[in-house]
Amino acid sequence: MERICHIDDVLPGSSIGFRYSSYGKDDIFLVNKSGKIYAYRNSCPHWPGSTLPMRRGQYLDGESRYIVCHGHGALFEIDTGVCIHGPCLGEKLTALSIEIDKDGNVFIVNA
Ligand code: FES
Repeated sequence: MERICHIDDVLPGSSIGFRYSSYGKDDIFLVNKSGKIYAYRNSCPHWPGSTLPMRRGQYLDGESRYIVCHGHGALFEIDTGVCIHGPCLGEKLTALSIEIDKDGNVFIVNA
C-alpha cells in the first residue's frame, strides 16, 4: 500500500492525476465527488492505454459532473466509472481501491 497524496490535495469537485508506475504519464487519477474519493486507471476503455485528459489533472467536465475522455468525448459516471455517453457506452473505467487514514493520507491498495 502506497501513500499517494493527502485528501486536501483533491478538493470536492476536483480531480488529480499521479504517475504510479514508471510509465511516463499519469497512470492513475482521483476524483472527489461530494467528499468521497474515487480512484481509476488513466486508461480509456475505448482505446485501452489512451489517457483521458487533454491537460494534466483535468479529468472532469466543466460542471464536475462526469469524468470525460478528450479522445472522443466519452463521459463516465464518477461513482461507477461506467461510460454513459460516447463510443464505449456501457464499458467501465478500471476502478482502484484506496484507503484514507485518520490523518487524511490517501493510499492506493491495488494498482
Ligand atoms: S479514447 Fe477515450 S473516447 Fe476514444
